[in-house]
Amino acid sequence: MTVSNSTTPTTQLSQTELLPIVVVGHVDHGKSTVIGRLLTDTDSLPQGKLEQVKANCQKNSKPFEYAFLIDALKDEQAQGITIDSARVFFKTQKRKYIIIDAPGHIEFLKNMVTGAARAEAALLVIDAKEGIRENSKRHGYLLSMLGIRQVVVVMNKMDLVDYSEKVFDQLVDEFQKFLLKVDIEPVVFIPADARQGGMIVERLAQMEWYQGPTVLEALDRLESGISNKQLPFRMPVQDVYKFTNFGDDRRIIAGTVASGQISVGDEIVFYPSGKKSIVAGIERFSAPQKTQASSGEAVGLTLADQVYVRRGDVAVLSHESAPKVSSRVKANIFWLGKDDLCKSKRYVLKIGTAKTVCWVEEILKMIDAVDLTEHFGGERVLRHQAAEVVLCLERAVAFDRIDLTKETGRFVLVDGYHIAGGGIILEGFEDQFEQFRDEAFYRNYKWIKSDIAQEQRKERYGQQPRLILITGEAGERRKDIARALEKKLFEQGRLVYFLGIGNVIHGVDADIQDQEGMGQEHLRRLAEVANLMLDAGMILIVTGIEFSQNDLNVIQAIVDSDLIKVVWIGNNSKPDISYDLRIPLEMSDLQGMEEIREKLI
Ligand code: GTP
Ligand code: MG
Repeated sequence: MTVSNSTTPTTQLSQTELLPIVVVGHVDHGKSTVIGRLLTDTDSLPQGKLEQVKANCQKNSKPFEYAFLIDALKDEQAQGITIDSARVFFKTQKRKYIIIDAPGHIEFLKNMVTGAARAEAALLVIDAKEGIRENSKRHGYLLSMLGIRQVVVVMNKMDLVDYSEKVFDQLVDEFQKFLLKVDIEPVVFIPADARQGGMIVERLAQMEWYQGPTVLEALDRLESGISNKQLPFRMPVQDVYKFTNFGDDRRIIAGTVASGQISVGDEIVFYPSGKKSIVAGIERFSAPQKTQASSGEAVGLTLADQVYVRRGDVAVLSHESAPKVSSRVKANIFWLGKDDLCKSKRYVLKIGTAKTVCWVEEILKMIDAVDLTEHFGGERVLRHQAAEVVLCLERAVAFDRIDLTKETGRFVLVDGYHIAGGGIILEGFEDQFEQFRDEAFYRNYKWIKSDIAQEQRKERYGQQPRLILITGEAGERRKDIARALEKKLFEQGRLVYFLGIGNVIHGVDADIQDQEGMGQEHLRRLAEVANLMLDAGMILIVTGIEFSQNDLNVIQAIVDSDLIKVVWIGNNSKPDISYDLRIPLEMSDLQGMEEIREKLI
């Protein structure tokens, strides 16, 4: 067996470079021991730590384990750690590392799919005596799915197989076959005796037959996220902060650059809305201003003119390749939920900083992550199963292929309050709202901006613009409630308008009024009119008979969906539309009007 010595460039990189690595593998195969050894043998432990942990073991008359070091460090670092696996740091002459230890199977999977691990490379540890076990494979599958392609395989506990080259070669052979099927070509396979420290940092006389790099050498040869710099710029918007100084209406768009770089003066476009501006400044948290930022940096962007941006949008440079936008996607998922993933249920999908309700339209195939067998079709996905599915999203999201940018390529699925799965988007399908979305994108992109900022209008009118859509079963009550609401708000000094659909149909729509099959065009025009009035800062009330979810989706593709509130009047609590407020039929118009005013405006 020959082992590739080095396939990666060994250019000298800066000391500030940080490479996150996750250590995975089957239970008890020696993950924590490998890490403990790495820390010890590179003198990375706090002074006296090793002695302290050893003394502790002696006191409690239990044998010392390198894994205990991780626990001891974990306790020390407990504050400020938001993930449940231990993260330890060490550095070599080349760069710094964050090593993510994954205690137990479930934790690891969760950390992997939530992206908390953010690993760029992995050490996959296998017990040479026990051989390749199901989690050796399952973890390999997940690394591949999540786009972590740099994998160093450590065949550990070689002492238990008499440091046999033959056993090593057999294991390499067997595991390589599996990894090939999941599209991973390991950087190197390393035989090790972590307990003694063999081939972790120091070489070991008993394995002179092995000429390849030690674990430490292999780590230093990995490529780091620096290469992300060359990718197109992506920054999921984390938050939008307002300057509080009097008369200052600037905002800071905060986020972490996921890939690429950005400079002051660049033209920036937000997806999926298409809102566009120029980067005026790049601020950093308690650090001097910069004119440039790149992958991994947390920054706050100020823009030359104010556009409405919100958490979940993805900032992109207008001259670089665009992300995809869709509300219907093909995805590869891995399910962790206690309850099965089923078609009838709604989940929340989180990608980057965006969040939307979603459901499974179709299970295309189920994949066993251990033996890689595939079953086509199916109604539910069980825990620890992988599957290819079609997901429908309530709101379109921007995304990239996983090999482009992990932050905009990975998502998690939340069931109730729990992360129940995760995956990657393989492709976006055309959905029936695409045409509307594209058109709204282009309209926003071309928008002629006013010198009066949205903020100034809000301040002047003392209100947030809103589109209140009142729909439902009951005859004329929608209009009665709408009128009462308009009157009340008007009397309170609000800028408000009740737009009867008839007013649009007989005016803006006069040319298509009697034409068949123009339903969506009517909606599109209504939504464009609403968009203008919302931009003017108005609270707009629109009524319609039994709007469906489809109708709402058309309107949402055109109008900023954050500004839309849906009121359903009727006793059916599960109509074919997701609403923000339901007014039961027995409630009086006056009461209903007050409900809307209190809860939605
Ligand atoms: P979990 O976190 O529980 O999944 O286990 P782990 O993979 O972190 O394994 P850990 O490092 O805790 O090691 C498990 C056991 O294997 C411990 O008793 C270690 O001392 C032992 N072990 C680790 N490496 C070696 C080795 O190279 N040789 C031998 N003989 N034992 C080892
Ligand atoms: Mg462990």
